[in-house]
Formats: sequence, structure tokens, C-alpha cells
Amino acid sequence: MAATDLERCSNAEPEPRSLSLGGHVGFDSLPDQLVSKSVTQGFSFNILCVGETGIGKSTLMNTLFNTTFETEEASHHEASVRLRPQTYDLQESNVQLKLTIVDAVGFGDQINKDESYRPIVDYIDAQFENYLQEELKIRRSLFDYHDTRVHVCLYFITPTGHSLKSLDLVTMKKLDSKVNIIPIIAKADTISKSELHKFKIKIMGELVSNGVQIYQFPTDDEAVAEINAVMNAHLPFAVVGSTEEVKVGNKLVRARQYPWGVVQVENENHCDFVKLREMLIRVNMEDLREQTHTRHYELYRRCKLEEMGFQDSDGDSQPFSLQETYEAKRKEFLSELQRKEEEMRQMFVNKVKETELELKEKERELHEKFEHLKWIHQEEKRKVEEKRRELEEETSAFSRRKVEALQSQALQATSQQPLRKDKDKKKASGWSSIYSVTIP
Ligand code: GTP
Ligand code: MG
Repeated sequence: MAATDLERCSNAEPEPRSLSLGGHVGFDSLPDQLVSKSVTQGFSFNILCVGETGIGKSTLMNTLFNTTFETEEASHHEASVRLRPQTYDLQESNVQLKLTIVDAVGFGDQINKDESYRPIVDYIDAQFENYLQEELKIRRSLFDYHDTRVHVCLYFITPTGHSLKSLDLVTMKKLDSKVNIIPIIAKADTISKSELHKFKIKIMGELVSNGVQIYQFPTDDEAVAEINAVMNAHLPFAVVGSTEEVKVGNKLVRARQYPWGVVQVENENHCDFVKLREMLIRVNMEDLREQTHTRHYELYRRCKLEEMGFQDSDGDSQPFSLQETYEAKRKEFLSELQRKEEEMRQMFVNKVKETELELKEKERELHEKFEHLKWIHQEEKRKVEEKRRELEEETSAFSRRKVEALQSQALQATSQQPLRKDKDKKKASGWSSIYSVTIP
């Protein structure tokens, strides 16, 4: 035997011995204790309704729970799909049920439907995340935690009689690993019986060929195995919803009345409403809750924890303790932090260097500019100086010419002086004779 096998044998727990009791002890009441505890605690159940606007989601919910929930008609002009959860406290006998109905408002109304599934997936993930965060808390209060994880998605198929739309296939494919999907054909009274039969076969064929996993009613519990197996063959259920009461015979029944007759909601010859109610509420509600926890939530939790770096064993199948994982993760985080710090420091140094270079370049450019301006200024100055000198020369030449002209004038004047004196004398005598006449 290999050493590891020997170790495994010595570490294995011894088989417990079976003993018989001498008399009644009382632990056979454990199931009853469990029931009593659960009843006191109450239950929560969350239904997600996905289907195009006006397909009959609210009417079906009202019909299923035989009450009137608050509803708001959705417009056909929502920019994107929006999730609207509404929670109600219901009571039947002594059982309290916190029921949340989540409506995918505006589904199928956008021109571009490529991302229609995303808000729905995000909503489901957000509920898983809330639960995971509660679980990871040091002080957890899961006992009175309001569990909002979606337990079932009722997917409303339009009764076209043709085939599933690509939007239906894409959405269901995106949701099937996150939630239990029960497909239903809505407004089944608008499609004939033979068409409905073919439509059901076509839908199931398309789901299978596209690898869409819908919820299968469990057949492992003997008590319900038979009914569940029969019901699995009836999927997708073709339902009719109505809260209107119509008199049929001497009984008031919920039905839809038409000029040509009455479609009774709870008549199994008219539609599958009763089958849906049986499967969803009366037989498999607990299995839907359990599947949500053990399958869908477990998958989300595992992926999330692996993403965070947690794992159960290393490559050699050695179990990893939480402490070891934490330490390894911490080291990894610190070295990553150091690497980032170094990267940032290097980036900073490079940036400083780049800025320095840029500044130097700017300085050089400025200096060149300054030198150029200086040269222009000197050139201008030199030109001005030259102009000034020319002007001065011109001025002095002018002055010289002026002096010469004056001198020549003066010379001329002195040469003509005797002649003028005679003339002046004659003029003066003439004037004096005039004055002697005019002045009294
Ligand atoms: P939004 O919330 O606005 O998206 O609509 P909805 O999907 O909740 O549909 P709602 O229940 O408000 O029903 C829309 C219309 O369809 C109403 O006039 C209902 O009476 C009618 N309706 C509902 N269920 C059925 C059905 O099974 N058959 C037929 N023929 N009409 C139905
Ligand atoms: Mg509605």
C-alpha cells in the first residue's frame, strides 16, 4: 500500500456502531420540531416574471395567489429593462409567507434588444451578492435575514404558435444557470388546441437544441415523483389568467368570457393553470427554494470566492485552510501593491523628466525668440541712427545754404543802397505832403 493510502486509512474516522434503544427516547420528534421552528420563522418566496409588456404577468400573479397585488401598467417606451420588486406579507392558516414579485418592466420594448437580459442577470446576481455578504459577516443574522434571492423565473412566452423569438432563447440561456426557469405560454385562450400542442412540442425542441436548461420538477422524492414526472411532460404550461368571476351552472368561477363561450381558468380542459399552481405552490415551492440555495447560489458563491482567490485545495489536493488562503492572498496583495507603487513612482519620475525636458525646450525657444527680437531692435536702432545722421547732415547743409543765401542777399543789398536812398527820399517827401493834407 502506498504511503499516502496508509496515512489516509489512519486518518479516516472509524465507522459508527449501530445500537438499538431500550425504549422511547424522544428524538423522533425532530421533524416536528423542525416544522414548528420553520412555521414560527415564516417563509420567503420570490418570483421573477419575465415577459413582454401586457402579456398577462400581473393578471396571472393575482389569479395564482387569489388576491389583488398592487400593479402598475408598464408603458411601451421604457429606455431599458427595469426590475421592479414588490414584497407582500401573506398568511394561509398559520403559515406566513413573505412573497416578492419582481417584474421585468419594459422587457422586449426596446429597438435594440441585445442587452435586454443584462438588467435581469444583474438583479439576480445582486441578490446572491447580498446573501453572500451577509454570510461573510462576522456577526451574521441569517435567521431573520430577508432572503431576496429569486427562487423561480416564470418566463411568459407569447402565444404566436410559431416558434420562440431569439430574445426568448438568449434571455433564457443567460438565466438558466442562475435561476429555476418555468416557461409558460401566456394568454393560451388565444391559440387553438391543436396549434397549442404543436407549439409546445416546438418550444421544447428549440429549448433542447439551444441547450437551455429549464427547471425540472424533481422525481427523487417518492411522494411526488409520479406527479412531477407527468407534469414535466406537460411543460411549458399554457395558462390563462383572470380575476373576473363568471357564473357557470350554479357556480361562480374565475374565467374569461367571450361572445362564443367561457374560458375557465381552473378547468384543466381549458388550460394548464391548475397544473402550474399545483407545481409551483403546492408541490414544489420548497424544492425551488432549495435548488436556489444548493445549486444556483452555490455556483455563484463558488465562482465569487474563486475569483477572490479562495480555493479548497492546492494543486496536490492538499486542503487549504482559510488562514493559509488569507495569508497567501495577503502576500499576493502586498506584492501587487508594491509593484503598483513602484510602477507609479517610475511613472512619476518619467513624468518629471518629461516636464523638465519640455521646460528646457521652452526656455531655449524663449531665448532664441529674445535674441531674435534683440537683433531686430538693434537693426531698427541702427536704421534710426542712420536716418538721424542723414537728417542732421541735411539740416546743416540747409543752414549752410541759408547763410550763404542771406549773405548774397546782404551783398546785393549793399551794392544797391545809394540808388535806393534817393528813391526813398522822394517817396518820403510825397507821403509827407499827403499827410499834411489829411491829418488835422
Ligand atoms: P405590464 O405589467 O403592463 O407589462 O402588463 P402585464 O404583463 O402585467 O399584463 P396584465 O396582467 O396587466 O394584462 C394585460 C391585458 O391582458 C389585460 O387586459 C388583461 O385582461 C389581459 N390578459 C391577461 N391575462 C390574459 C389571458 O390569459 N388571456 C387573455 N386573452 N388576455 C389576458
Ligand atoms: Mg403588470
